[in-house]
Amino acid sequence: MKALVLSGGKGTRLRPLTHTIAKQLVPVANRPILGYVMRHLSEADIQDTGVVVAPETQDEVKRYLGNGNRWGLNITYITQERPLGLAHAVKTAREFLQDSPFIMYLGDNLLGTGISKAIKEFQEHRADCMIFLKRVADPRAFGVAELDAQGNIISLVEKPKDPPSDLALVGVYLFSRAIHHAIDCIKPSWRGELEITDAIQILIDQGKKVRGEILETWWLDTGKKDDFLAANTTVLDQYTIRSIRGKVDSRSTIEGRVEIEKGARIINSTIRGPVVIGKDTLIDNSFIGPYSSIGHGTVIKDSVVEHVVILENSVVRGIVRLEDSLIGRNARVSKSRRLRGALRLMIGDHSHVEI
Ligand code: DAU
Repeated sequence: MKALVLSGGKGTRLRPLTHTIAKQLVPVANRPILGYVMRHLSEADIQDTGVVVAPETQDEVKRYLGNGNRWGLNITYITQERPLGLAHAVKTAREFLQDSPFIMYLGDNLLGTGISKAIKEFQEHRADCMIFLKRVADPRAFGVAELDAQGNIISLVEKPKDPPSDLALVGVYLFSRAIHHAIDCIKPSWRGELEITDAIQILIDQGKKVRGEILETWWLDTGKKDDFLAANTTVLDQYTIRSIRGKVDSRSTIEGRVEIEKGARIINSTIRGPVVIGKDTLIDNSFIGPYSSIGHGTVIKDSVVEHVVILENSVVRGIVRLEDSLIGRNARVSKSRRLRGALRLMIGDHSHVEI
């Protein structure tokens, strides 16, 4: 079993953040999303992993993943010149995949469960395709499945205006080599992409074995700000353990599951978990409330923050209350006059906001 991780694409939906960072590298609980994907592959004993990258963002993806040996993976990079769709990415990776069965994992998806069980099931049933479905409130932003009374998949539609069900397609797929022939039969969709959903539909129409499983655990497509904050909250909740490797002075209080990395300093502050604080970060005379991720090298001074994601090397200073916010890298939020009430912000990298 090989793996194909899709880390190309445009990443327009997390703008302005993804102008300057590949969306698959945006950190959730201070770890790039791709790190969680790699961990799942590694736990499933996969080695041969193809990573599809875009020309614009490939350097930073390669810098983070390297040759994959950190996870016991053997990575081959495949450059997709233009983001012409998920099925196009598979086509581009044909030489790497050869005729091997493979798991395709979208690099901006986060799952609350590993993939070992799914792979075993796929192999046992000798299926040609296995997909995962999750009930969502608004399916229009996803691929959507229609099932018959027995639970078999009848059809799949990509981003329908009028969804046939509330079952969205999760960004993890298992395929046999049959998918390549199906991809050769499809045409670009209305949005100009070769859709993997159309290729799976061909497998269904050809009577191939296509299994659909309802995913029991959480799943997050990190594409938008609120989803992204939700992802951060869920991951902090699930993974944060109390671990204090930075320096905490005697006037500070650390409550609950808080991870403080090496080189971080906490001065006269209270931190209430679940929270992660990156390395070399300074928290001074501040309160950091639950469900916050504070990136490496960031400074928070004379401020109250809660339910925020603040990326690397940013500064928040003198802000009475900042909540439900996403702040990019090297950004600066500071106070210039008396401010009342809470702020809710989404601020891109290298921004400077004075309030
Ligand atoms: O997240 C689940 C959804 O992912 C599914 O419900 C949809 O059926 C599926 O089409 C896909 O929809 P998105 O619109 O969210 O896909 P997106 O363009 O965000 O691309 C998903 C990942 O694949 C992302 O990490 C970028 C990468 N990608 C995308 C395209 C279009 C590539 O590597 N190459 C591409 O050509």
